[in-house]
Amino acid sequence: MGCMRIADVQDDIDHELVSAEKIHAIIEHAAAQASEDYRGKDPLLVAVLKGAVNTLASFSQALSIPCQIDFMSLSSYGSGTVSSGTVTIRQDLSTDVRGRHILIVEDIVDSGRTLAWLVEELKRRGAASVEIFALLEKPARREVDVDVKYKGLEIPDEFVVGFGLDYDERYRNLDSIAVLKPAVYQGEQA
Ligand code: IMP
Ligand code: MG
Repeated sequence: MGCMRIADVQDDIDHELVSAEKIHAIIEHAAAQASEDYRGKDPLLVAVLKGAVNTLASFSQALSIPCQIDFMSLSSYGSGTVSSGTVTIRQDLSTDVRGRHILIVEDIVDSGRTLAWLVEELKRRGAASVEIFALLEKPARREVDVDVKYKGLEIPDEFVVGFGLDYDERYRNLDSIAVLKPAVYQGEQA
C-alpha cells in the first residue's frame, strides 16, 4: 500500500517525532477506553477541520461501538501561529447537539483557546456531555485550562507536521508526525 512517508519529503524534515505505529497505538488505547465509557450512549464525535480529520478517521474506526461524526471549521484570529482566542465559525455542525454526548477529537492542543471556546459553545447549545480526546498536547504552550479526558502524547514545544497537521497546508498526508527543518520556515515566520 502506498503512502507518503518521511523518506518522500526527506529534504524538509528534521526528525520524526511520533511514528505511524505509535500514533495508531495511542489512538487504539484511547478508543478502547472510550468504547467502554460510551457504550449505549451513541456518542457524536466532533472534529475541527482540517487538522483533526486523520485522527477522527482512525479513532472512529478503532471504536467498537456505534457513533456519529460531524465537523466544524473554525478560525481563530491572531498574528501568525498564535491564536487570539477570538473564534468565529466558518462552517457549522449539521447535527443538533441537544442532549447528545459529544466527544471532541483533536489533533493537538496548543494554547487550548480554540478548544476551550468549543467546549463552552457545545455546552451552551445543550449537549448532555462534552469530553475531549487529543492525540497530542504541548503543555509548555497551554494558556487556557481545558480538561482532556482521553490523553494521547505530550510533546515538546516544537512545530510538528503530519497525520493531518500542516505547515502552510502541506504535509497533512504524511503517515507519521515530524519536526520540520528550520529552513522550511525561513522568511515565512509571522
Ligand atoms: P490552540 O490550542 O487554540 O492554540 O490551537 C490549536 C490548533 O493550532 C491545532 O488544532 C492545530 O490546528 C494548530 N497547531 C498547533 N500546534 C501545531 C503544530 O505544531 N503543527 C501544526 N498545527 C498546530
Ligand atoms: Mg485543529
